[in-house]
Amino acid sequence: MCGIIGIRNEGGDVVPWLVEGLRRVEYRGYDSAGVATLVEGHIERRRAQGKIDVLEQRLAEKPLSGAIGIGHTRWATHGLPIERNAHPIATARVAVVHNGIIENFQVLKRELEALGHVFETETDTEVVTVLVTSLLEEGASPLTAVARTLGRLEGSFALVFLFADEDDLLIGARRGSPLAIGYGASTLALGSDALALASCATRVSYLAEGDIAVLAKGQVTISDAAGAQVERLVVPISKAAAGVGKGRYAHFMLKEIYEQPRVIGETLAELIEPATRTTCLPAFPFELGALTRATIIACGTSYHAACVMRYWLEKLARIPADVDVASEFRYRAPPMQEGGVAIFISQSGETADTLAALRYAKEAGQHIIAIVNQPGSSIAREADIVLSTLAGPEIGVASTKAFTTQLAVLAVLSVAIAEARGALSREHAATLLGTLLETPALIEEVLGGDEHISRVALWVERARDVLYLGRGTAFPLALEGALKLKEISYIHAEGYAAGEMKHGPIALIASDVPIVVIAPRDGVLEKTLSNVEEALARDGRVVLISDAEIIARFEGRLAYGISMPRSDPFIAPLLYAIPVQLLAYYAAVVRGTDVDQPRNLAKSVTVE
Ligand code: G6P
Repeated sequence: MCGIIGIRNEGGDVVPWLVEGLRRVEYRGYDSAGVATLVEGHIERRRAQGKIDVLEQRLAEKPLSGAIGIGHTRWATHGLPIERNAHPIATARVAVVHNGIIENFQVLKRELEALGHVFETETDTEVVTVLVTSLLEEGASPLTAVARTLGRLEGSFALVFLFADEDDLLIGARRGSPLAIGYGASTLALGSDALALASCATRVSYLAEGDIAVLAKGQVTISDAAGAQVERLVVPISKAAAGVGKGRYAHFMLKEIYEQPRVIGETLAELIEPATRTTCLPAFPFELGALTRATIIACGTSYHAACVMRYWLEKLARIPADVDVASEFRYRAPPMQEGGVAIFISQSGETADTLAALRYAKEAGQHIIAIVNQPGSSIAREADIVLSTLAGPEIGVASTKAFTTQLAVLAVLSVAIAEARGALSREHAATLLGTLLETPALIEEVLGGDEHISRVALWVERARDVLYLGRGTAFPLALEGALKLKEISYIHAEGYAAGEMKHGPIALIASDVPIVVIAPRDGVLEKTLSNVEEALARDGRVVLISDAEIIARFEGRLAYGISMPRSDPFIAPLLYAIPVQLLAYYAAVVRGTDVDQPRNLAKSVTVE
């Protein structure tokens, strides 16, 4: 949430790099954007309401130069997303970009106002610039002023500071929100993630909780929360992060949908030994077979992956499993018995609620497994063991390939837990793992039906409301289908357990309310089909996603059928995710919405 960057370039102008860096983290928020540099020692800013394109126009009208600067793309929390509240927030002495929330800003603001300081914005961030400025005016050095200011702040944040008359100094600090350091040939930089830094740096290191980094004279000095000087591991920026583009696709989302066979294959290749069809997971620091209970926690689309895993764990491993959204779990603060495992699923690895839930579960004595797409992320760092999804950078705000690679990891983990508990025989496990290895090819087949799905979307797009129904593992997919449609096309959609239809949603049935039914060939298929009949009997218009034989049973009574390859029900969630993603994508394209950056959303939700 909010992308931040700061660059010092010994070779000259930083503004093009700042803008390119911001573009790469625009998925973190796009309410407003801005940059600040030093021009003859003075802080100069250009800011604009709206996306980075608008900022670029502003820069074209009124260019800005400078060899040191900071930049920000905003997802508004405090204060309207207008230019006045756009970052960098600055006084004459210091400019700052901020990702996160200063929770005690009102107390600090009142205190500073009582001392005669005047505030110009409605942001929580401004207390930081005003506090630092007052300390600088008292004669403190920039580093002392920052350190003392940080000591007064509550909340979570990553901050990058630029100081007037300091043309070789950037200071970064992290507490709760991510911040990385980039190292290039002529540059040193700070940014929200490796993606932000990939255009101006070739290597990266991640600040730990409480770290302060000083970038000056071509050197980086890091001190930890206790004030001790520390080193952080520097690693090359991956090629994937460096080369992010849409290629031949109209949108990142479509590109990412099409990448799924490859990235699922790559993810599975790390977890399954194909010759023996055995799992090859990293060594667990606890006994998988001795676990007594599993609690699976996530937010958004990752939560839907969590819901699928519960079915797999209960069925295959016969272990009691709970699932919850992180924002509820953390404040519900449920009692947890020793000996349990808590599994946290997060694409970004930075979602504030998921991270807080992880910390709660750790305190409560649970073993912690993290499933993340960002190995250097906070959730990864705080877990006992990390299983990575190898989805690569996901730029489309609506998650697609991160979801299915999560499912791939969770499927393997479920089999491993089941085997370790003795609930699954070696032979059965080998069959399931072999089936999983077939998913990339089957997804290729599903993608072949893309054009037909785009025609179905032409009808769905005209609806005001859409219902998604499914049973078993298809229920979370119904939730995911509805979420995808809502978030990118702005059509109201509801996901329901098909068996619940008669308890309410059945009242909504009308010829202009598409009912998308997800019906893989599993143990509850016939029950789902009975629900389809109930809908048809009430003149409902059904889009049935199932295999061709099942669709044929309805002899033309369906509005549309979306035909899927026959498969083992175990892998159905991975396959059936594809048509619901494509349906939402094409509906949004026809509606003309901003598919990759839907309104009000952001990808990395680092505030609660
Ligand atoms: C946001 C994104 C979703 C994502 C959710 C959880 O809402 O728009 O795509 O599923 O956050 O994010 P995480 O990074 O924890 O998976």
